[in-house]
Formats: sequence, C-alpha cells, structure tokens
Amino acid sequence: MQNLLVSALALSAAADAYGAGAAGWDAAYSKAQAALLKLNQTEKVGIATGVGWEGGPCVGNTYAPSSIDYPSLCLQDSPLGIRYANPVTAFPAGINAGATWDRSLLYARGAAMGQEAKGLGVHVQLGPSAGPLGKNPDGGRNWEGFSVDPYLAGVGMEETIQGMQDSGVQACAKHWLGNEQEHNRETMSSNIGDRATHELYLWPFMNAVKANVASVMCSYNKLNGTWACESDAVLNDLLKDELGFPGYVMSDWNAQHTGVNSALAGLDMTMPGSDFNKPPGSIFWGPNLVEAVTNGSVPQSRLDDMATRILASWYLLGQDQGYPEVTFSSWNGGKATVDVTADHASVVRTVARDSIVLLKNQEHALPLRKPKSLAIIGQDAIVNPDGPNACVDRGCNTGTLAMGWGSGTAEFPYLIAPLDAIKVQAQKDGTKIVESTTDSTTAAASAAAAADTAVVFINADAGEGYLTVEGNAGDRNNLDPWHNGNELVKSVAAANKNVIVVVHSVGPIILETILAQPSVKAIVWAGLPGQESGNALVDVMYGTTSPSGKLPYTIAKQPSDYGAGWNSALVDNFVEDLFIDYRHFDKNGIAPRYEFGYGLSYTTFNYSGLAVSVSATAGPSNGPIVPGGAEELFQSVGTISVIVENTGEVAGAEVAQLYLGLPDSVLSTPPKQLRGFQKLNLQPGEQGTATFELTRRDLSYWDVQTQKWVVPSGTFTVYVGASSRDIHGEGKFTVA
Ligand SMILES: *[C@@H]1O[C@H](CO)[C@@H](O)[C@H](O)[C@H]1NC(C)=O
Ligand SMILES: *[C@@H]1O[C@H](CO)[C@@H](O)[C@H](O)[C@H]1NC(C)=O
Ligand SMILES: *[C@@H]1O[C@H](CO)[C@@H](O)[C@H](O)[C@H]1NC(C)=O
Ligand SMILES: *[C@@H]1O[C@H](CO)[C@@H](O)[C@H](O)[C@H]1NC(C)=O
Repeated sequence: MQNLLVSALALSAAADAYGAGAAGWDAAYSKAQAALLKLNQTEKVGIATGVGWEGGPCVGNTYAPSSIDYPSLCLQDSPLGIRYANPVTAFPAGINAGATWDRSLLYARGAAMGQEAKGLGVHVQLGPSAGPLGKNPDGGRNWEGFSVDPYLAGVGMEETIQGMQDSGVQACAKHWLGNEQEHNRETMSSNIGDRATHELYLWPFMNAVKANVASVMCSYNKLNGTWACESDAVLNDLLKDELGFPGYVMSDWNAQHTGVNSALAGLDMTMPGSDFNKPPGSIFWGPNLVEAVTNGSVPQSRLDDMATRILASWYLLGQDQGYPEVTFSSWNGGKATVDVTADHASVVRTVARDSIVLLKNQEHALPLRKPKSLAIIGQDAIVNPDGPNACVDRGCNTGTLAMGWGSGTAEFPYLIAPLDAIKVQAQKDGTKIVESTTDSTTAAASAAAAADTAVVFINADAGEGYLTVEGNAGDRNNLDPWHNGNELVKSVAAANKNVIVVVHSVGPIILETILAQPSVKAIVWAGLPGQESGNALVDVMYGTTSPSGKLPYTIAKQPSDYGAGWNSALVDNFVEDLFIDYRHFDKNGIAPRYEFGYGLSYTTFNYSGLAVSVSATAGPSNGPIVPGGAEELFQSVGTISVIVENTGEVAGAEVAQLYLGLPDSVLSTPPKQLRGFQKLNLQPGEQGTATFELTRRDLSYWDVQTQKWVVPSGTFTVYVGASSRDIHGEGKFTVA
C-alpha cells in the first residue's frame, strides 16, 4: 500500500505538465493547429473516421495521415482493464472502486490501468463510465460505473481519469447521456427534465471534463427524440458550450445515424467507422464527409474543429513523444509482445479488499478465528471449471463472479476464487474444509451439517445487452440472487447454526429471505472484485483488515421500493426526476434494508466536534467557461469538518460522509444529497479529522429559468455521519 501511494504521488506531480487545465489545453491546441495546416482534406477526415470493425488491431482504429507524424489511433475497451489483450490485469469493476470511497485507491486503479494501456500501445482507453448512472437498480451496465450518486460517481470519474491520463493514455468518459438501460438502448428515447439532467446525469461528467478528459463517448439512445450522437443540444450545447469540453466526442460503436447531422451536432469521430444499417462497406464519413464539406452542407470550420480536437487531445497527453506501438491484436487471441501487468495485482487486491461491505455481523461471526471446520458452499466459491475466460466477454455465469459481461470486461490472467484462498488460510489454521461447490441444495445441506460454520456463496450477474445470459438480456430480470440463491442459503441455514453469506453481485439484491433465516449471522457484500477475489475476501473474513467499504447504492426491502427499473417502452420519461436511489427513499419515507453509504467495521467509531465554516454569496455562478463549466462553480466556499475516533479494539477505516439539505425555498429538492466524504485509517484510540472542502457547485441547484447553477439564499442543513441515515452530527449555515 505504501508503495502504491508513493508512486501515485510521483505521478500526480508529473500531472502538472498538463494538469493546469486550460494552460495544458492551450499548448496542445497550438500544436494541433500547426499540424492541421499540413493536412489535406482526406487526412483530416481520416483522423476522424474509424477504419471499420476488425479493420485494425484495436476495437477502434483511425486512418493515419502521411503528412504529419501521427498514428492510426488505437481505441480499446474497457473501464476495468484492457479488453481482448493478454496478459493484462483484470481490475475490480467500477462499482467496487466506488464502494471503497477512497480517492487514493480510485486514482491508483486508474493509474495502473493507464500504465497497461500505454504499455500495450493503446492511445485511448474506453472508460471510465458514469452512464448509466444507475437510476434503475436492475440496469445491466450499472456496475461499470462507480455509484448511483452523482457526487460519488463524479469523484470516481475525476480520480480515475487523472490516474489514467497521468500514465499517458487518453481516457474516454462514457456514455453521454441518459443511457440507463440495455433493453432498446439503440431505439429508445430518454426524456429527462432539465434539472435532473444537470443535477444527476451530467454532474459526474463535469468532474470528468474538469479533470481534462481527452474524449467523451456519446451514447446509443435518443434524448427528447434525437439520437445522442446527433443532438446539437446534447453535444454542442451541454457538453462543448456549457461544460467547455475541449476534447473530442466519439460515437459509441454504430451509434451514428447520419453523416451531415452528426457532424453539425458536434460529433468529432465516428466509430468503428462503418454504417451497419447499409450494405457492407458503406460509411457515413470518410469520402462522404469530404463531399459534404465540398458541397457546403458541413462547414470547413467544423471539419477543422473535429481534427483539431482529436489532435489536441493527443498532444495534451504527450502521445507525440515516443508512444509505444500497438503490441497485440484483438482478433487473434490478443497475445501481447510485452507484459504490462507489473505489480498491479496489489492494487487489485487492495481495491477489492477495501470495497467489501460488511452488511451484517451478529455474535461476532466475523472475523473467523481458526475455525475447526468450515463448509464452503456454492458454485460461486470456485473458478468456472472451463476456466475464468471460458465465455466470450464473460457471457455466462458459471463459477465465481468477479466481473459482469459485455464490452466492459478484460481477460483474467488468473482468478483466485474464494475457495482457493480460503484453503490456503485453512491449511495454516488447521481448519478442516468441507466443500459443496455446486448450487445443489441437498449437497449444500449435507456439507453444512458437517462443519461448525458454513460459508455460502451466491451471486447476481448483469451486462451488456448484445449477450443474453440465463434469460437476462443485459438488464436483470429481477433483484434476486441467481441459481436459486435464496433456496441455497435456506438449505444451509436449516443445517447449520452459524452461516455466513458472501454475495458477488453487480448491484443490489433483495436479501429479505436470507435475513429471515436466524442461522445467517453475517452477510459480506464483495461486489465484482476482479482477479484477486479470494485473497481480498480472506483479508477481510479473517480480520487481517477490517472491512471498510460502504454501499454505493441502496439495498431495498423489495424491488418496488426503488420506484425505478428498466422498462420495455421505447420512451422513458424519467419520471423519477431528481428522486433516484436514496433521494427517493428519503423523500417518500421508505425504510431501506441497507441504506446508501452503509457498511460495518470490526471496530467502532465516534463522531464529534462538527465544525461548519462556510461563507457564500447567493446567486448564479458566472465567469468564463473553463473545462467543467463556469469558473465560479469551482470557487471554494469553505469547509466542514468532523473528528472521528476509533473507539474499538482493532484498526479500521471509516468513511465520514457529508450530506447537505438545501434551503426550503428550493422546491422539489431531495432532502439531503452527498456533498463530501473522506476515508480515515485509524488505529484503536486514534482520532482523525475528516475535512470536506466545498465549492459553489456543491451548494447549487440548476435553475431552469436562468439556465445557471444557483446558490440559493437561506439556511442549509448539514448532516455528517457514517451513512446517508446514520447521522452523527447536524449543523446549519446560512447564505444571504
Ligand atoms: C492527401 O494526402 C494523402 C496522404 O496522406 C494522399 O494519399 C492523398 O492523395 C492526398 N489527397 C489529396 C486530395 O491531395
Ligand atoms: C428535454 O426536454 C425537457 C422537457 O422539455 C427539457 O427540460 C430538457 O432540457 C430537454 N433536454 C434536452 C437535452 O434538450
Ligand atoms: C452533400 O454531400 C453529402 C455526402 O454525400 C450528402 O449526404 C448531402 O445530401 C449532400 N448535400 C447536398 C446539398 O448536395
Ligand atoms: C464520543 O465523543 C464525545 C465527544 O468527545 C464524548 O462526549 C463521548 O463520550 C464519546 N462517546 C464514546 C462512545 O466514546
């Protein structure tokens, strides 16, 4: 861990080369404009046009010009590692990185992924994701992002992008905008109100643009009836004008629908370059874009702008300075000529460990202390007998679940399953292991009866809609554990009085049946931990490290409590408005089973000394547009702090959380919203101070009339605590 942070710090010093934001972009734009003068029309179009699916080694490739020293750009998935290449590291999914609530780990994971991308010659890594945000708890790709809360997702975007780009790869913030489900994603319209657009779905992309993300991927869906990749309102107005995004917009793969309109709407790069609706070989851009400029339907300045944005992003990252060649091909097994994995397994293990959320722990069931015998139950305890990569793009749920399915995946170099790691520990402890590694309830019951303690593994999977797994077309059909997980737990709980349930899941599952079993003493939520799954689990289950993950979403008592879910209509009117996840539960007085931000530790924490020092002027935030939005939005308005003490017997980490309630004058607003958090590592008896730095943006709502972020006048309520409901300190401040 020490080394990790040291190298992260060294990298962040290097970031200043371009991290100064506008200054870095200015220099990059100067170089891009000089290069542009040397390009002919075909070449300008070529750097904006993909060569077609499987036309180059990467999932996306552009045409290389000859007039300047600029490559065929290599664009490669995914948000959790480099897809279709090996060896690479299979990192924990975004949702686990979010569940750490740890800025330094988010950064370290991004930096390690970026190093692998660069080492392999990937110019643009297609991540991180904040769309879907996750308003639908059953949404198929929610796990690729960090959290359903825009503030936490925003921090996840910012830290990950900084880490990736400090390592030299261009990050790609995706999917812009409003792509909240897999069903009909290519035909449906997301009709989102202006306030919810800004305060929920756009928010994390502000962080991404502020972090100087090089590229943004527009999504498949329509917004208000217009395709995202053809929408002037979404690309030109929101992203480029309002957020001041200086980089380039690429289409999601085949999300472009017209040549001229997409160019005019602000699309800068078409991927993978072909038009799938027409006969093979037809394309929207390429020669057609040259012609569209010649016949005047696309201005020359628009084409020049596309090329300049793409070139500037390449210069911003210093990719003109001896960037490695592409060392693998996605289409022949992906074997790379270099090994880029370095010591990244330690980043994986740390993130996986610190993302584990302990949901329940009765009678000190955990940590385990050299148990005499342990039954390990469920197919989720072992690696798929056919290998961890047996199904293309992880499109099956066999064996332990460590990532979801779809394009947001990578090949496992290896996968340490829970049973593998527990066996190593059991050997040291002299613990007898009894195994039942199928999901058979009868075998489970007999194994459970033969041991002091039973650990039962269940899971729930989801992914991208081009693959259907066990009847789930991307989005989940329900919020139950798969493979009859409830029955599996019930049979174990009937045979053993001391049951620990471990959940590997893409998102919330309903736990009521499991909680109704008196023998279930502990529930461990391990999410999608990546290649070090078992080792991270052992670190926590045996108490080498106290659990410190916190839920990045709410776990409800029943699915209908969320008031949201994917649907089969071709229009989603986003009737949830601002009230998704905990905002909805709070507004409607619904008791969650486990609230947003919740997670237990092996130690206890005491909160004291809440200090509020905030001073802001009411009104809109103005000023020049910088990457991220109007400059004044990012002005400091003070801090809120709280003292946290470890009052227990063992070391642990606590995530202190700040929620703000806006003055009552702002109608129809969530009762409280996350606006700060800090994770503190504390020894027994040690005190630490969590300090939440606030900017004008954190106090603002989106004013639809004036089209500005506005700090309202009146009294704000401050809630500081261990979750969105476990509040340990309340305060107020007033803005005039
Ligand atoms: C533009 O440059 C390319 C070389 O990159 C060349 O093949 C092509 O003929 C040129 N096109 C025009 C119209 O001059
Ligand atoms: C979509 O329509 C709603 C309702 O008129 C509006 O508030 C919102 O700003 C529109 N979004 C876009 C991207 O135009
Ligand atoms: C210009 O060229 C483009 C690309 O071929 C074509 O789609 C468009 O209809 C043309 N417009 C005019 C006015 O000729
Ligand atoms: C928590 O801290 C406060 C303030 O220092 C103190 O009054 C209280 O007794 C502490 N509670 C525990 C359980 O240590």
